[in-house]
Amino acid sequence: MTEHTAATDDESEAVRRDADTAESSSANRHWWDRNADDYQDEHGSFLGDARFTWCPEGLDEAEAGLLGDPDGLRGRTVLEIGAGAAQCSRWLTARGARPVALDLSHRQLQHSLRIDQGLGLPPVPLVQADATVLPFADGSFDLACSAYGAVPFAADTARLMREVHRVLRPGGRWVFSVTHPVRWAFPDEPGPEGLTALSSYFDRTPYVEQDEDGNAVYVEHHRTLGDRVRELVSAGFRLVDLVEPEWPEGLTQEWGGWSPLRGRHLPGTAIFVCVRA
Ligand SMILES: C[S@@+](CC[C@H](N)C(=O)[O-])C[C@H]1O[C@@H](n2cnc3c(N)ncnc32)[C@H](O)[C@@H]1O
Repeated sequence: MTEHTAATDDESEAVRRDADTAESSSANRHWWDRNADDYQDEHGSFLGDARFTWCPEGLDEAEAGLLGDPDGLRGRTVLEIGAGAAQCSRWLTARGARPVALDLSHRQLQHSLRIDQGLGLPPVPLVQADATVLPFADGSFDLACSAYGAVPFAADTARLMREVHRVLRPGGRWVFSVTHPVRWAFPDEPGPEGLTALSSYFDRTPYVEQDEDGNAVYVEHHRTLGDRVRELVSAGFRLVDLVEPEWPEGLTQEWGGWSPLRGRHLPGTAIFVCVRA
């Protein structure tokens, strides 16, 4: 899930400026390679080795069934995009599905191998690639999913949506979670300072952390809700649900800018549930 507040590199400066596909992809690949160990250390127990959780609010696919009835997953081919250590793919495998876990970061994928080895499981099939250039034939998958993977980081998400559409079979579901777009208007802080809107929700300028020479070391891209709907519809998807998980009573764990306080006031996550036409 999105990390930028907690993990800003010591020497980097946070700015809002343009960042194209090449710069975003290169910066994020290196950032996730450098930070994968810390990410898995910090969040591994929340994520669980073989759990499918959509967001810091803890919504689980086992209860939500956004990909369809969990009992109907047997034999289905699934592409997990921005899979990290492939925790979701491991949950899918346990339900008889046949996932492929794709990620930009080699180090993130190494954590998938580590977990499989530790559990004595056959390795989840892994692919290192950029989600905007999927190395699969047309119509290769029944389902595609992503828990905060790739979509917030890619400059050209219209292209990403077209690529997912291409590799899905007709009728296939594409379900992905991202930071709720409204959060972009607020400082990414878990405390009360994170409750006052300081920027425009309509400002699509990317969030960039850059080094002293101005080279991007981390990039996130913003789309409004309307932008996302238009990208999905233009790619050929039908939007069937937009889930905004509420902060559950009793969840005290903070995750970057996600906290019980902010969760009581603002949506933190948006989950788009789409069907390929
Ligand atoms: C916030 S992590 C989420 C990982 C996993 N889904 C989870 O819930 O722990 C985002 C992941 O997206 C990957 N990523 C970022 N940009 C990507 C891109 N353009 N293509 C594929 N993966 C990307 C990162 O390497 C990282 O592993």
